[in-house]
Amino acid sequence: MAQNIAKLDEIMGAAPVIPVIILDDVEAAIPLAEALVAGGLPALEVTLRTPNALKVVEKMATVEGAFVGTGTVRTKADIEKSIEAGAQFMVSPGAPRQLLEDAKSFDVPLLPGISTATEAMAAAEMGYQRLKLFPAEAVGGAKLLKSFASPLPDLKFCPTGGVSVQNAREYLALPNVICVGGSWVVPGDVIEAGDFDHIRNLAATAARLTETA
Ligand code: 3PG
Repeated sequence: MAQNIAKLDEIMGAAPVIPVIILDDVEAAIPLAEALVAGGLPALEVTLRTPNALKVVEKMATVEGAFVGTGTVRTKADIEKSIEAGAQFMVSPGAPRQLLEDAKSFDVPLLPGISTATEAMAAAEMGYQRLKLFPAEAVGGAKLLKSFASPLPDLKFCPTGGVSVQNAREYLALPNVICVGGSWVVPGDVIEAGDFDHIRNLAATAARLTETA
């Protein structure tokens, strides 16, 4: 099947920001997900970069109102493990042809990363119209995405990588941006300190980024 755009639009459209989570402490998974959902950010990307990442996904997937996905998905094995753990979406830093082919046989949608017009066009040709711009700030940021809007009007993006509370609005104002991704709402030291009220406040600020001043 082609990329499940309706499902991705639901997930990407749920809030302006998808937190990019790097977490190994399984005990922190539920309070962290609860704080993010309570703050207004229901779509959560758990990167497959820690030994316990899949256990974290399993725990977070039990939290009411959360859409839990995996990030740093690079192989078919990563796809299979993600789905087994209960992921509802998957994110990849890149868009290698094999991964895009493999992901087509699963219902759980993949949001692949691109950083050039050629990569975006290649992904679109394979049926992928929802893409992550990665690493957003390093490859041209909001200016680059603004330049994609006219020639590639069917493609919509989630820029991630260097996005912060300071620059997120620039991206969110663009017609081809549905949401942004970022780790700024889940600082490692705050999680380690168990300060989930702080996380909820960061999430609440992020959830209001599309409000007009
Ligand atoms: C990542 O891969 O870690 C994400 O792109 C998050 O990037 P950020 O830490 O710059 O938000």
